[in-house]
Amino acid sequence: MNIVILSNGSGNYSTKRIRNAAKERGHNVRVISYAKCYVTLEKNNPVIYYNGEEVKDVDIIIPRIASSLTKYGSSIVRQFEMQNVFTTASSIAIVRSRDKLRSMQILSKASIDIPKTVFARETDDFDGVIEQVGGAPVIIKVARGTHGNGVVLAETRKAAKAVMQAFYVEGVSFLVQEYIEESAGTDIRALVINGKVVASIMRQSLDDDFRANTHQGGVGKSVKLSDEEKKTAQKAAKAIGLTVCGVDMMRSNRGPLVLEVNSSASLKTPELITGFDVAGQIIDYAVQAAKAGRRKDKIGA
Ligand SMILES: Nc1ncnc2c1ncn2[C@@H]1O[C@H](COP(=O)(O)OP(=O)(O)O)[C@@H](O)[C@H]1O
Ligand SMILES: [Mg+2]
Repeated sequence: MNIVILSNGSGNYSTKRIRNAAKERGHNVRVISYAKCYVTLEKNNPVIYYNGEEVKDVDIIIPRIASSLTKYGSSIVRQFEMQNVFTTASSIAIVRSRDKLRSMQILSKASIDIPKTVFARETDDFDGVIEQVGGAPVIIKVARGTHGNGVVLAETRKAAKAVMQAFYVEGVSFLVQEYIEESAGTDIRALVINGKVVASIMRQSLDDDFRANTHQGGVGKSVKLSDEEKKTAQKAAKAIGLTVCGVDMMRSNRGPLVLEVNSSASLKTPELITGFDVAGQIIDYAVQAAKAGRRKDKIGA
């Protein structure tokens, strides 16, 4: 099959692994920097150009869209969708997963447990908001943050209020969340492919940071998920409409809580720690699903 990986980082571990897995399986594979693509639109003729040439006869795209380029990247994905090309992540699901508020709404509607969350814009009722999530300390997150940047732990009511006020002034959308103290500094990343958890790791911050992201200095180690944790991750992936994704969860006293679902989760730490061939699984899934035909997104949010 003709497979295109949409990635701006051809030297990136995940991109390289996916490309090699496709090659090993005898597919024709290219990495295309979506940021450098342009598209043309006219009646019934959606075309994509890369390096001055039309990109055509593609059977499968595997989007690896950076969060800084969600809008442009997902538009390129949409252009392929308009050509009926199979994608391992639909444009709408990518956009949905990148908005923390929208994701939380969808997860809660799907009866998935999440940290209690408040979203507000210009309320003066700071105390009310803080009380809603159990009082200080609270977590405050910008709606479109990633890699742990944009997640703040406000230890006191005063600090929480000041952070909220700062975000209001800057017009930044954010959410205020219950602080899951019992597993602060650790989280679980479960990679889900086609409805099943295929690899999972626990990430732990090395210093006393409450964020476990490897981009914040967190390290991964192996972890065995309970059935409940597996089911929760699988349910979250389904709710967001992503067939290839990384689900972040925290182990709380009341069970697993989902933090977010990532549409281009890194394969690096999970593969290196578990030894599992995640890239190969992505290709196998994509090829089988592309043959079966594209499924429509039915989430409705
Ligand atoms: N409600 C919370 N309570 C405690 N720690 C949290 C909470 N939410 C996030 N964290 C920590 O911060 C990290 C980043 O949060 P997350 O929502 O996944 O945002 P990002 O998109 O930046 O990765 C998590 O991996 C976790 O370690
Ligand atoms: Mg995260």
